[in-house]
Amino acid sequence: MNFNITVADASHFDYAETISTMIEAAAKARGTGISKRPPEYIRRKMSEGKAIIALQGKDVAGFCYVETWGHGKYIANSGLIVNEKYRQHGLATRIKKAAFKLSRKKFPDAKLFGITTSLAVMKINSDLGYKPVTFSELTTDEEFWNGCQSCPNYDILTRNNRKNCLCTAMLYDPHPKLSSQKQKNNRFNVRDHIKKYERWLRLKQHTFLKKRKKELVS
Ligand SMILES: CC(C)(COP(=O)(O)OP(=O)(O)OC[C@H]1O[C@@H](n2cnc3c(N)ncnc32)[C@H](O)[C@@H]1OP(=O)(O)O)[C@@H](O)C(=O)NCCC(=O)NCCS
Repeated sequence: MNFNITVADASHFDYAETISTMIEAAAKARGTGISKRPPEYIRRKMSEGKAIIALQGKDVAGFCYVETWGHGKYIANSGLIVNEKYRQHGLATRIKKAAFKLSRKKFPDAKLFGITTSLAVMKINSDLGYKPVTFSELTTDEEFWNGCQSCPNYDILTRNNRKNCLCTAMLYDPHPKLSSQKQKNNRFNVRDHIKKYERWLRLKQHTFLKKRKKELVS
């Protein structure tokens, strides 16, 4: 399939409503929650040159944006969405690569991070050089964490004092302290551990949700 993948600008404003609706529908379908992105927020990202859009003709095929946190020390690639019609064609991989390139160009010294429950995103991040980390390695910027408020699991995050939640955190450090060879040896590749990872994700969800059910009953 031929997709036109580019840094979005004001000429893409008309797509903001569709993108916002797609993000919300996907969050509902997954039940794990992605925070809401209203059309005006999406338009702002486009006008700041911080969004990647993929088009198939005049159809929105996918979207993602970058945002800085902690006074530019951190960058998150967020709001990744691929239109259901175009999934499983490697499009998310291409969009995330474009967002990664944009982030590195605009903010070369920032650490890139993401939090996700999506195995597809974990695979893509892992291929880009991200490593799974604890939440303690991420930004402490209140505004970032406030974005989790519209997630149905927000109570789990707050109950755990923001130390963990159903999402897995992944981080790309542009200036790792370890030597490149040492880093290569130490690199945790999600792909090498995919079965263990899926089992661990299920266990994590089971444990958290069981705890929540107990609380609801009592
Ligand atoms: C997650 C999503 C972005 C993936 O888009 P996509 O274009 O289908 O992804 P790709 O085709 O680039 O696939 C990337 C990798 O993930 C795998 N993958 C794709 N969907 C998957 C799924 N549902 N479960 C597990 N793996 C999946 C692919 O097989 C591929 O792996 P490979 O490189 O080993 O072949 C898309 O399903 C989506 O928009 N979902 C709803 C929104 C969402 O979950 N966003 C992420 C929020 S963090």
